[in-house]
Amino acid sequence: MISTETTLAGYHFDNCFMNAAGVYCYDAAELNQVQASMAGTFVTKSATVMPRSGNPEPRYQPTRLGSINSMGLPNEGLPYYLDYVSQQQKAVPDKTYFQSITGFNIEEDEQLLAQISASDFKGVVELNLSCPNVPGKPQTGYDFEMVERILTRVFTVYHGPLGVKLPPYFDIVHFDQMAAILNQFPLAFVNSVNSIGNGLKIDVATERVVIKPKHGFGGIGGDYIKPTALANVHAFYQRLNPAIQIIGTGGIKSGQDAFEHILCGASMVQVGTALQKEGPIIFERLTRELQTSMAQKGYTKLSDFRGKLQYLD
Ligand code: FUM
Repeated sequence: MISTETTLAGYHFDNCFMNAAGVYCYDAAELNQVQASMAGTFVTKSATVMPRSGNPEPRYQPTRLGSINSMGLPNEGLPYYLDYVSQQQKAVPDKTYFQSITGFNIEEDEQLLAQISASDFKGVVELNLSCPNVPGKPQTGYDFEMVERILTRVFTVYHGPLGVKLPPYFDIVHFDQMAAILNQFPLAFVNSVNSIGNGLKIDVATERVVIKPKHGFGGIGGDYIKPTALANVHAFYQRLNPAIQIIGTGGIKSGQDAFEHILCGASMVQVGTALQKEGPIIFERLTRELQTSMAQKGYTKLSDFRGKLQYLD
């Protein structure tokens, strides 16, 4: 029997696959489909203090090698998602769910966490420090001092399991510096990576950009980003206190892609662009393909190969 079950933040999940925040998680209709799929759990769209309609459309475009988006954090507001999760906790109590949140400053993060603490939420919080698409708001994860200030405040006011969604880093020194900050805190996990921010996709026929916000600049996902995602997963796996687990996100469209993320150290894997393209039925194929990859290697559980990437020296 080949198992893709996993444990994160002390919770058991029947399957290591789940959606990435932003995909199939805007409202109950979308979340219901992930909940009914083979995914081990779901994460909601990143909730802000107030509901947001997001950036003007078109704001998402699939491409041959992935996707570009500048959604601008459209969401129904935190109370909507807490209410949805509360219903799921009652309906399917043996599953644990993820609530993604993003404030626009420390006070808003604190406000969101206070709302979660005051609710009956029993799951895991994913604090999004990496949305690249709100005009005028830089990605928090690239401001190292700010990340430290936010986490200091967060862990003063919130005592449940919480992790952070990070942008991709591209320099070894930045992996070292960010890991040194993250290691100061009782994080349950880091999720690497969000989209590669501010790429540009052009339609040569019309000589135009393909999405409207920010003159076409948007977050890049899919095949383009898998090597960067794997590097970030492994860099943090090498550097973080082992109590901080890794969620691998970026470029997963096959079971083998998931295998690579787990080999780099991921305990759970999130699917974004490929889920958007194929819908939640994708979790059946991904699970089957991961099991096939594991069977070919003689592995029966994720811990047989998690983090066991080999080097050439
Ligand atoms: O634009 C967006 O809503 C994307 C958010 C994110 O990548 O975190």
